[in-house]
Amino acid sequence: MKMQITSFMANGLAAMLVGLVGAPAAQALEITLPQETAALKPSTMPGYQLALRNCTACHSAQYMQTQPPLSHAWWEGEVKKMKHVYGALIPDADMSAIADYMSATYGSGKGADEANAKSATAGAKK
Ligand code: HEC
Repeated sequence: MKMQITSFMANGLAAMLVGLVGAPAAQALEITLPQETAALKPSTMPGYQLALRNCTACHSAQYMQTQPPLSHAWWEGEVKKMKHVYGALIPDADMSAIADYMSATYGSGKGADEANAKSATAGAKK
């Protein structure tokens, strides 16, 4: 099929080209991305690595991040619930370290994580 360029179409095309050429060239556009929320907050605590291994298979870290600053006991219960109610394959030996990390990072122990990280680096300098 042969296309016929009508004057109506040609005018439209010309207008489009003018629009393109006339557009201010490469306006600086800054895009600030929201903070990464899907990943667990890195830490030097052993529970961080264990949580990466045991807590990210079924849901994102947003589930941890959106909790209010709950107690260590609550996090211990939460880890148990993930295992016994939802069937997470968490070795018993890893459970308390994970609760330590969760509580220090997202729970009532918030800030202890940074303090731990500092003392760990301070220790390493000796
Ligand atoms: C076997 C899959 C699985 C694994 C592994 C898992 N979870 Fe969950 N988690 C769930 C399910 C299912 C829910 C409930 C989802 C819902 O209600 O929408 C949930 C919900 C949560 C919540 C939201 C509060 C609640 O109780 O509903 C938190 C916090 C949480 N998980 C933390 C953890 C932590 C910490 C770990 C690692 C120890 C973990 N999860 C590992 C399946 C899992």
